[in-house]
Amino acid sequence: MTNSVRSVRHFLQFSDFTREEFDYLFERTRWIKEQFKAYKRYWPLADRTLVMIFEKASTRTRLSFEAGVQQLGGAAIYLNTRDSQLGRGEPVEDAAQVMSRMCDVIMIRTFEQTIVERLAANSRVPVINGLTNEFHPCQIMADIYTYIEQRGPIQGKTVAWIGDSNNMCYTWLQAAEVLGFKVNVSTPAGYEVKPELAGLKDCSHFEWFADPMEAARGADIVTTDVWTSMGFEAENEARMRAFADFQVDAEMMQAAKDDAIFLHCLPAHRGEEVSAEVIDGPQSKVWDEAENRLHVQKALMEFLVIGRVEA
Ligand code: CP
Ligand code: NVA
Repeated sequence: MTNSVRSVRHFLQFSDFTREEFDYLFERTRWIKEQFKAYKRYWPLADRTLVMIFEKASTRTRLSFEAGVQQLGGAAIYLNTRDSQLGRGEPVEDAAQVMSRMCDVIMIRTFEQTIVERLAANSRVPVINGLTNEFHPCQIMADIYTYIEQRGPIQGKTVAWIGDSNNMCYTWLQAAEVLGFKVNVSTPAGYEVKPELAGLKDCSHFEWFADPMEAARGADIVTTDVWTSMGFEAENEARMRAFADFQVDAEMMQAAKDDAIFLHCLPAHRGEEVSAEVIDGPQSKVWDEAENRLHVQKALMEFLVIGRVEA
């Protein structure tokens, strides 16, 4: 563990990496996935340990990080708020000091983005954002990789984001600026996007539509997410009423391009943000998308822990 706090790289939001770095990571993802599918052993993280901190629930993120690091030859340790001292008020700065002396990479799922920033500022090892209230960068890496795999480069394409201006939406906005595509956003009144929260240089990659059908028109990807994200459960009833006209259904998919794909980070609520016909239909790539969490995060951990690797 030679990295100093000053020089170590982290993945706290999508804009932490350049387009060139994502091109590299997506190519590594392709190669790593190919090895996995061919049952070829690839253990670049042998003897390395990932610590995973969960302050919110998870199925995919835990599974993909834990399986992913094991498949790279390393080990994973799971911590949650209930069973660790984090839940009893130990400062995140102190936890970062301790964890980064014992482990080689940290993944955290938590509430405010400032928590992951404080963790990273005090960590000797890379920190990965596994979802905060503000961002979900690993998920958007998987979503974009899925598009590339299904249809080719995302540059110049249009993503229609329908529903809540949440962590997924803000991460799509950052990705559009970094990689060069457009996001059409349609949210109900009172849930509008605040582009400054994504830290965008300008709004040239983003357009807002009052009518979700207009946002979907001509899109290459139509995507949505739950109407009530983790941590916002108290607003659930009001949100169900506000979002009622924002379901992605077959009519909305018809407004998109003929070869458009539907994505959803999951878990999904059929009959709320998406109809069963769409999520279970031929344009839906949600299972590939979920699987690709595993592969993109293996490329990400390899990059952050041992640096660039020649194929
Ligand atoms: N999409 C996603 O992050 O799923 P989990 O909440 O199950 O980890
Ligand atoms: N926006 C959702 C994503 C879950 C993976 C949430 O934050 O709960």
